Amino acid sequence: MSALTELCQQIALCHKCDIARLRNNVVPGEGAENAEIMFIGEAPGFNEDQQGRPFVGQAGQFLDQLLASVNLNRQLVYIANVIKCRPPENRDPLPTEIQNCAPWLDNQIEIIKPKIIVTLGRYSMARYFPGKSISKIHGTAVKRDGIVYFAMYHPAAALHQGSLRHDIELDMQKIPQLLAEINTVQEEVPPPQQLNLFGE
Ligand code: URA
Repeated sequence: MSALTELCQQIALCHKCDIARLRNNVVPGEGAENAEIMFIGEAPGFNEDQQGRPFVGQAGQFLDQLLASVNLNRQLVYIANVIKCRPPENRDPLPTEIQNCAPWLDNQIEIIKPKIIVTLGRYSMARYFPGKSISKIHGTAVKRDGIVYFAMYHPAAALHQGSLRHDIELDMQKIPQLLAEINTVQEEVPPPQQLNLFGE
């Protein structure tokens, strides 16, 4: 069994938060274990809780359209959330829930080793761009410890607020370019050692 499958099985047994009692399914995340790009949303909603899969409701359909617009295959990226259980009535995740779930997300990132982490919405952004405002930093990237973090609005926000739709579509268009730039940066190769065959 792969390390990621094993991790997802452990996540499914987690009962650290009270909301675990209310869930129909844990939603650990899905996609390729070797994904170069990882999308991190907020929390499962009604449909995700029913199916145990991330972004399968209305926001998910929009995310699928956004992925298709840049020829990204949903199976080849990884999609996860900051918290893995649905908060009742889709309320915002609590700080304790985010804290309890953080090691699961960190372990997923550790295994997948994505080149780019795309944060979808405020809660995901807050983990990687603390103190920043989404309206200021959406569509921008920073690199930290070998991973590029790229902030985007949450697809659901763009559905509710039509004016954000264009912003999120434009931000998505930047991702292939970002990936191409990362992929073309050469790893530094140390110069070959001079062999001194004659003991001089
Ligand atoms: N919104 C999220 O943040 N995540 C999902 O999985 C679905 C909707």
